[in-house]
Amino acid sequence: MRIDILTLFPSLFDGPFSESMIKRAQAAGYAEIHLHDIRDFSTDKHKRVDDYPFGGGAGMVMMIQPIADAIDSLKAQRTYDHIIYLTPDGQTLNQGIANHLSLSGNIILLCGHYKGIDQRIREHYITDEISIGDYVLTGGELAACVLVDSIVRLIPGVLSDEESALTDSFQDNLLAPPIYTRPSDYNGWQVPDILLSGHEAKIEEWRMQQAIERTKKLRPDLLK
Ligand code: ADE
Repeated sequence: MRIDILTLFPSLFDGPFSESMIKRAQAAGYAEIHLHDIRDFSTDKHKRVDDYPFGGGAGMVMMIQPIADAIDSLKAQRTYDHIIYLTPDGQTLNQGIANHLSLSGNIILLCGHYKGIDQRIREHYITDEISIGDYVLTGGELAACVLVDSIVRLIPGVLSDEESALTDSFQDNLLAPPIYTRPSDYNGWQVPDILLSGHEAKIEEWRMQQAIERTKKLRPDLLK
């Protein structure tokens, strides 16, 4: 999968993309992530990328021209399955959306800043608008990191069998069951006997029961 990210702050991605799973996925060729500085596309002599909102009001608006030229230049080179704008008023990200996007070939992520982007970009270029939750971030970059992480780990081959995403919380609309590792007794805090029994079928049944109970208690909305 190829992911092109349009941002005013490319260096914000340095840390998250150069460690752990995303680093491995890129090194192994499962994901190609390209960062593009929107400012590089500005035709303004001062490289301005924002301007005052028509009609007045607080805050600045990201201008059409640099964003449109950036997207056009990418679209001239390949076709994109999704052109996604990260925004607090988008559809809230969930595991189903991540699963769907992980099947894409090429996607563009557009990160906004200031008060947002000129509405005409949303109308004429954007195919999906995604929020990572009901709170407002300073820009779309951290949201894009979250989205990329949730998608890339689902690309077949990225996770090993032991890490498999199939047993993650939410994959079947259930929260994951509790997990334990050695020692089986820590100052009197015991691991449930069933997990030490070696009885695979019974352990599976226990895990499913726990997953259902936890979901009922903590996230009953998932069971609807
Ligand atoms: N940009 C600012 N806040 C955001 C949010 N909650 N989700 C996605 N993008 C955002």
